[in-house]
Amino acid sequence: MADEPRALRPASAVRARATSALQRLQPALAEHARASLGARDAAALLARVQRRFIDVYQALDEVYGATGDLDGLMADLLRLVADAAATRDDDLRVLDHRREIAPDWHLREEQVGYVCYADRFAGSLAEVADQLDYLSGLGVTYLHLMPLLRPRPSPNDGGYAVVDYRAVDPRLGDMTDLEQLAAALRGRGISLCIDLVVNHTAREHAWARRAAAGDPVYRDYYHVFGDRSLPDRYSATLPEVFPDTAPGSFTEVPGLGWVWTTFHDYQWDLNYANPRVFREMLDVMLFLANRGVEVLRLDAVPFLWKREGTACLNEPEVHSLLQAFRGLVGCAAPAVVFKAEAIVGPDELVRYLGVHDRHRPECELAYHNQLMVMGWSSAASRDVGLMTQALSRMRPPPPTTTWVTYVRCHDDIGWAVADEDAAARGLDAFTHRRFLNDFYSGSFAASFAHGALFQANPVTGDARVSGTAASLCGIEQALELDDRALLGQAVRRLLLLYGLAFSYGGIPLIYMGDEIAQVNDAAYTDDPEHTQDNRWLHRPAMDWAAAERRHDPASVAGMVFEGLRQLGAVRRGLPALRAGGDTRPLWTDDPAVFAYARIHPREGTFLGLANFGDFATSCDAGILGAAGLRRPWDALAPDGRFGLHEGRIHLPGLGMLWLTDD
Ligand code: GLC
Repeated sequence: MADEPRALRPASAVRARATSALQRLQPALAEHARASLGARDAAALLARVQRRFIDVYQALDEVYGATGDLDGLMADLLRLVADAAATRDDDLRVLDHRREIAPDWHLREEQVGYVCYADRFAGSLAEVADQLDYLSGLGVTYLHLMPLLRPRPSPNDGGYAVVDYRAVDPRLGDMTDLEQLAAALRGRGISLCIDLVVNHTAREHAWARRAAAGDPVYRDYYHVFGDRSLPDRYSATLPEVFPDTAPGSFTEVPGLGWVWTTFHDYQWDLNYANPRVFREMLDVMLFLANRGVEVLRLDAVPFLWKREGTACLNEPEVHSLLQAFRGLVGCAAPAVVFKAEAIVGPDELVRYLGVHDRHRPECELAYHNQLMVMGWSSAASRDVGLMTQALSRMRPPPPTTTWVTYVRCHDDIGWAVADEDAAARGLDAFTHRRFLNDFYSGSFAASFAHGALFQANPVTGDARVSGTAASLCGIEQALELDDRALLGQAVRRLLLLYGLAFSYGGIPLIYMGDEIAQVNDAAYTDDPEHTQDNRWLHRPAMDWAAAERRHDPASVAGMVFEGLRQLGAVRRGLPALRAGGDTRPLWTDDPAVFAYARIHPREGTFLGLANFGDFATSCDAGILGAAGLRRPWDALAPDGRFGLHEGRIHLPGLGMLWLTDD
């Protein structure tokens, strides 16, 4: 744990050292690879290593350069990579080959994601495989299964406390089931994404047990302190993730000392200052890649590096670690992409996609939590000023990367409203967050939402919100009041938010149950293991009875399912929604109408208009020219027509236009 970020050495000097290191290491690697891979695949591996070597070397130099033997570390890691390449199935090597020819697969307009817990969706992994027709019917091309590696017994934070990264949760099946599911998905053109909890292990993980038993090698896998003095110093600047249920960031372990536990006391943070930890996690990544996983969701990555006097979030070394992982996994399994779970402010967020002084390949995907938060903010206030301001300020992702765009996920919604964005709109960020908490927890009188406060902190006044998309959009309230008009409005609101996610640029994710408008699961408190954590409100079991109604246009499930299916179908026909271009918000003359243009170097122009107000409105048609559209038509309308009269574009309440002149 160095006190200061390591001063970056001049890039040219590092490059020169990397080049000579590659020359030294290459002959042995080539020989090893030829023996295990055969001439053709060995040549491919070497070409990948050559292409990525400098990135990896530079990144590891920034983190471990001071520890001495970087050549030795590189040689060891490259051998691990070569061994993983040698044990990769033929099927996966074919996939690698295809992905190297078409590296933009994750950027394409066909991509639609679906996120679910295997058990809550279907039961076991084998039973998930039985539901692939359902997913294909929704247009899904990417399936994120929530944590499925073997967790500690409950409580385990919904599976985010892993005891064995090489085993599947026995409730769901085993590794063979996972491989078979991955292969079945691959056969349908669906990529499997799983969670990899890189920041911490369960305290029952073999490494932690050895540490607790006094083994100094494994003690160094974690951040362990003999007394409270350093933990107290760190704590002075650390935010608390679960102030309600797991206050503090350190846990006293008898016989060991104080262990860093950012999340719960049973989740021990790994010590990435120790290169052995890096090597172990690389080995795990390669193992999972070889099981057929195509997207690794790297959980809680901003927390990977600790530095006194900071919030221990987004430190420069976090990015170096990700870049090194990126390069090394890419050598053995180029089909695999990384998704960063970095729920951080907008300036920090784009860095996880590799936006630095220059582009440094890091993660290909990251959650666009600003878009998600701003969508909910606009839905509550019926005013898109803050959203336009905040999204305008974000730097575009590098063209080989993109967002995952989403409306809800398994976590609470944290109101990431930057002070400067709020100030630019004449708002106070704290007051606005409080308004959003009141609104979505239902305590604001005119609210349509049914939700709950999560981790309300009486000291800071902060809180976050739990609830399903349908409940937060007003569907639950409308059903309770048995009010058809309100229900129609709430359904349109849900489809508006999803319409934004499907068209802003990135892979849209459908969170299980949203497609059939599942409301909050109030019965979550019946389960003693969940009752303390109201995120289970929005983690219901799949309502297959409602799903049966999905083709009935008179049912709520039918309206939403068909709406989402159509969004995907229209999106597939719009190359302008392929990632690689830039999305720019534009100001309109109506406070409720959000406009965003996608200017794509090759694929044409797109202008999205979304009316967050409940009533019909219009905006100045000058925006068409500003977006570069000459003969626009609405891709969402069956006949392409939209309301354009007397210089104004007309939108229905909670309506949306996808304009293009392609
Ligand atoms: C991530 C997960 C969240 C979990 C935390 C700790 O943020 O999304 O559910 O509690 O990591 O693993």
